[in-house]
Amino acid sequence: MSGKWAPQSWRGKEVRQVPVYPDAGKLARAEETLANYPPLVFAGEARRLKEHLGVVAEGKAFLLQGGDCAESFAEFHANNIRDTFRVLLQMAVVLTFGAACPVVKLGRMAGQFAKPRSAPTEVQGDIELPSYRGDIVNAIEFDAAARVPDPERLLRAYNQSAATLNLLRAFAQGGFADLHKVHQWNLQFVASSPQGQRYEALAGRIDEALAFMEACGITPETAPQLRETDFYTSHEALLLNYEQALTRVDSLTGQWYDCSAHLLWLGDRTRQLDGAHVEFLRGVDNPLGMKCGPSLEPDDLLRLIEALNPDNVPGRLTLIARMGADSVEAKLPPLVRAVQRAGHKVVWACDPMHGNTVKASTGYKTRAFDRILAEVKGFFAVHRAEGSYAGGLHFEMTGKDVTECIGGAQAISEASLGDRYHTHCDPRLNASQALELAFLIAEQLKEERENGAGQVAAAS
Ligand code: PEP
Ligand code: CO
Repeated sequence: MSGKWAPQSWRGKEVRQVPVYPDAGKLARAEETLANYPPLVFAGEARRLKEHLGVVAEGKAFLLQGGDCAESFAEFHANNIRDTFRVLLQMAVVLTFGAACPVVKLGRMAGQFAKPRSAPTEVQGDIELPSYRGDIVNAIEFDAAARVPDPERLLRAYNQSAATLNLLRAFAQGGFADLHKVHQWNLQFVASSPQGQRYEALAGRIDEALAFMEACGITPETAPQLRETDFYTSHEALLLNYEQALTRVDSLTGQWYDCSAHLLWLGDRTRQLDGAHVEFLRGVDNPLGMKCGPSLEPDDLLRLIEALNPDNVPGRLTLIARMGADSVEAKLPPLVRAVQRAGHKVVWACDPMHGNTVKASTGYKTRAFDRILAEVKGFFAVHRAEGSYAGGLHFEMTGKDVTECIGGAQAISEASLGDRYHTHCDPRLNASQALELAFLIAEQLKEERENGAGQVAAAS
């Protein structure tokens, strides 16, 4: 895959998962408006994330990516943004402290609106309507008018992303993420749970470490990383009309960047080598992700890596395996081996959500905490066996106290899924489940680092 690239060259390829807009003129006008709006992120920030991910690719840091399956206009609220950010910070602290390993923090936030669907239409009774494709395209209500793709939604998604990013930047750099506030990140409804108490204990140890460091002269003034953090944004680059409109030339390097987020990823349904999504992403210089599901064959993976990262830049490409707990130990090893044999420098991350979605007897789409943990464990086991580095995690989670995934210490049952099931798409871990997972994974990571360090060194 090569040839001349331009921000619009994807239009000459087959586009999967594309909404059918009834008014092409209105769509073109919305794209033009967007193309004149300021970029949401700066190319230098995307390059910095790529450098951080390069460190992950070397086995010296860990990636934590998480957020909503689908952001929505209805759930747009400062408290929701704050709470998701807060849980991600808590998880990162647990992983950093537990495993003594730097954690790169990446939100599925400020742009995660467009959704791929298994069918172009949805049938209820004898009515068939276009599927809901995320708030950036149409509305979730099962109603003919609501389901018509509306280009105005691109602008609304941009505005919501800009406001979300503004708040995230303020939180990350304005004092909220100061390590001295580590106790205050504990959400009220989590604090009294076993995870909350465990977190409180860990926060106490961090306080002690900070006091010790201060006595040695390492203070927020001398070490700003104690009072602020780097936080990056990402989403699936699915709606290419939106992505193209936000793609700009970086004046410093002359390279193209998709300035809608720091990292963009290819979904499992739109990663065809000759398809529009691969064509678009190969030409932008952002760090990229690619979902790797059970249907991906090693040869195709190698061709995709060649197309997306021909110069083998560490940190450019993160492969996000989402095999399912039952398939990970069979499907992942051939891919890991192929990548190693070819000498490709990638980050391997585990998305234990999308291969473990089931329908509960009550009709809700759900995921079981145990299956999620089982896939993470399987992912670590495969990498250990192959002498490869398990570099990160990708979660669908929220800071809210929802009941969408079953199990965990809270023991959410199928029967209680209906209590607070709010997602616009896939079921998310709630704050307490997410924190619980972070603790369990930190233990695993610690073990890997203690036992497996030699293997990683030998493999690199
Ligand atoms: C997602 O991340 O929400 C998603 C749709 O994932 P996948 O492409 O892996 O199915
Ligand atoms: Co999802």
